[in-house]
Amino acid sequence: MKVYVLNGPNLGRLGTRQVDVYGVTSYADLVALCESTGRELGLEVTVRQTDAEHELIGWLHDAADEQAAVVLNPAAWSHYSIAVRDACALLRGPLVEVHISNIHAREEFRHHSVVSAVATGVICGLGVDGYRLALQHLAVRR
Ligand code: DQA
Repeated sequence: MKVYVLNGPNLGRLGTRQVDVYGVTSYADLVALCESTGRELGLEVTVRQTDAEHELIGWLHDAADEQAAVVLNPAAWSHYSIAVRDACALLRGPLVEVHISNIHAREEFRHHSVVSAVATGVICGLGVDGYRLALQHLAVRR
């Protein structure tokens, strides 16, 4: 099963970005974690990050065309991008939305994700372990 693990803006800075909120795991470590978890589970995992909204939308279109599963951390776009939500709504495979932090325990503007209503499920607040759990779910749900 093909799985895209897609990450939105500023997540490339993991490891140095607000470590009290996002932890000390670097983006490179996150990629390695997703790739090794994918190998263990027999999933074909591709991990990407972008700060450009159109690039994420293009990747979501590719995933829709390929009927691939998606693990998505839309980062700040979660809270306002109808374009990202609409691209998520095109997907034909499962979509697991992941947030490293507990968005409900943070500022009010982070409490709502416009993506969640079109996601299969949402994991938030479990740190980078959320990505591993999302991949485990996709491996058992097929
Ligand atoms: C985030 C939470 C968002 O509110 C924030 O803008 C991010 C990361 C998370 O993983 O906890 O960039 O999606």
